[in-house]
Amino acid sequence: MKGLILSGGKGTRLYPLTYTLAKQLIPVANKPVLFRVIESIRDAGVTEIGIVIAPTTGDEIRSAVGDGSRWGVQIMYIMQASPDGLAHAVKIAQPFLGDEPFVMFLGDNVIQGGIATLIRDFANHAWNSQIVLKEVENPSQFGVAKLRADGSIEQLIEKPQDPPSNLALVGIYMFDHHVWEAVHGIQPSKRGELEITDAIQWLVDHGYVVRPHVHQGWWIDTGRPIDMLEANASVLDEITPSVAPDAMIESSQIDRRVTVQAGAQIINSIVRGPAIIGEQAIIRDSYIGPYTSIYHDVVIEGCEVDRCIVLEHSEIRHIQARLHNSLIGRHAKVTRRLERPLTLSMNLGDHSSVEII
Ligand code: DAU
Repeated sequence: MKGLILSGGKGTRLYPLTYTLAKQLIPVANKPVLFRVIESIRDAGVTEIGIVIAPTTGDEIRSAVGDGSRWGVQIMYIMQASPDGLAHAVKIAQPFLGDEPFVMFLGDNVIQGGIATLIRDFANHAWNSQIVLKEVENPSQFGVAKLRADGSIEQLIEKPQDPPSNLALVGIYMFDHHVWEAVHGIQPSKRGELEITDAIQWLVDHGYVVRPHVHQGWWIDTGRPIDMLEANASVLDEITPSVAPDAMIESSQIDRRVTVQAGAQIINSIVRGPAIIGEQAIIRDSYIGPYTSIYHDVVIEGCEVDRCIVLEHSEIRHIQARLHNSLIGRHAKVTRRLERPLTLSMNLGDHSSVEII
């Protein structure tokens, strides 16, 4: 079994962060989503992994991930010249995958519990494909499956306006070599992409066995900022907290659900978990509330912050209102003006959003 991770695409829903950062590298609980995907494939015993990358973000992904030796896996990169769809990404990976069965994982998906059982089930049955479904409240934002009374798949539709069910396709798929007939047998959709849902529908229509598995744990497609914060909260709930031996904690209250990474300093502050404070971060005279991830080299001074993700090298100082439900990019500065004129002063990137009370 091989692994294929899709890490190309544009990430437009996460602008402005993804103007300068591949969306798969945005950290959830201080670890990039893509690293979590690699770990769940590795933990299922798959060690040969191909990552599909785009010309725009490919170099950044290569240098963050490397050759995979850090995880004990071998990583190959497959360049997709333009984002022509998930089935197109599979098509160009054919020389890497050959005729071996493979698991394909979207590089921006986070799921609870890993995929070891799914891979074992696929290996132990004569299925041609296995897909993962999850009941959701907003099916029209996803690929949607309509099942027959016996549980088999009748129809798969990509982002339908009028969804036939609330079962969304999670971004994890398993295939055997018959997928090659499917990806070569379909045409681009109305939006001009070769859709993986159409390829799977092709398998169903041609009598191949596609097994649907309905996932019971949480699943988050980290498409929009609110999804990143949701994913961050779910993962923080599950990590086993620890405090690095060289972290400095002085005149502060830190509860049991807080992880403090190497070299972090927490001074005269309160941190309520689940939360994580990154390497070399400084928290001074502040309150950090639940479901917050502070990445490395961040400075927070004289502030209250909760349910936020703050990326590396950012500074948040002396703002009066509590910063809540926010995603702050790298090297950003959020400060309060202490001298007159007491004006607001902003230097925001395209597609930024600020809410002021
Ligand atoms: O997250 C689950 C959903 O993922 C499924 O329900 C949908 O059926 C499926 O089409 C997909 O929809 P998205 O709109 O979320 O796909 P997105 O464009 O965000 O791409 C998913 C990942 O694949 C992302 O890491 C970027 C990568 N990608 C995407 C395209 C279109 C590529 O590597 N190449 C591509 O051509």
